[in-house]
Amino acid sequence: MSPFQLTRTLPDDAAGAALRADVLHGLTHTPKELPPKWFYDARGSELFEEITRLPEYYPTRAEREILVERSAEIAAVTGARTLVELGSGSSEKTRHLLDALTGLRSYVPVDVSESALTGAATALLDEHPDLDIRAMTADFTRALELPVTPGPRLVAFLGGTIGNLLPGERQAFLRAVREMLSPGDALLLGTDLVKEEDVLVAAYDDAAGVTAEFNRNVLAVIDRELGADFDPDTFAHVALWNREKEWIEMRLRARQTLKVTIRDLDLVVPFEAGEEIRTEVSAKFRQEGVRNELAHAGMKLSEWWTDSAGRFALSLSTAV
Ligand code: AVJ
Repeated sequence: MSPFQLTRTLPDDAAGAALRADVLHGLTHTPKELPPKWFYDARGSELFEEITRLPEYYPTRAEREILVERSAEIAAVTGARTLVELGSGSSEKTRHLLDALTGLRSYVPVDVSESALTGAATALLDEHPDLDIRAMTADFTRALELPVTPGPRLVAFLGGTIGNLLPGERQAFLRAVREMLSPGDALLLGTDLVKEEDVLVAAYDDAAGVTAEFNRNVLAVIDRELGADFDPDTFAHVALWNREKEWIEMRLRARQTLKVTIRDLDLVVPFEAGEEIRTEVSAKFRQEGVRNELAHAGMKLSEWWTDSAGRFALSLSTAV
């Protein structure tokens, strides 16, 4: 018998079809755009791990500080018997929660990447041999049919990844989460906070150039997966603070006039010199905004914890 269960809710070529649709739409759109989820092939995931260790990239350390500080309180307030983690990835930051949630019986990691789930579940089993692990491959931005496990459930969405969704997608996502919550269940949400522009921009434009390489990696993904001929070096990394929307934007700027052929789409994409592709939005939040968006989706914010420097917040909410 397998030590953990894996439920696949995605069709076999879901990722391939979604990549083709996103690239076709995004590179024929004005202005050009690509969704940030395509950064994360093996190389991109490695680069992201490297980003989390950069001196300029504070969110991961700030969130870890809150988790370490508040895990016992989260355990006491929620009484969680099941932890559902959306976008669990390597489940690294979850460790603090798993150690603190003493009444926990089941862990449901949900991710688009089957290899990330399998690796994380295998690693966790060593330390938590009695935990019932029910891994699921799923697109968590859609309504999700969760396995039947003991309540109350704690649904965690960490890392500030909610900031990578556009406002409309965010609302749809929060409503889908609301649908997963029964009375007594809670949502634990990680949000990066609005702060000084120079601190924010440095976090997305580090001196060592790791974020620039991460950003250009999406072009290498399109080259490999769709037979395109992007030369990543002909694009400059751009990170800017959009003051009105209160989000960071990453872009790739063509250094010269050029054309890219995307074989699998039968598509030629022209770029003018200086033309940009928006590759990521990373929204930053204020408590009032988070409270309002949760309320709009039928949830009530009950706890708000920040790190000691006030850079990042974890909030706890319940269904109303
Ligand atoms: C942790 C996925 C939310 O937006 O900060 C890091 C990804 N992009 N550097 C973020 C990211 C550029 C990140 N998330």
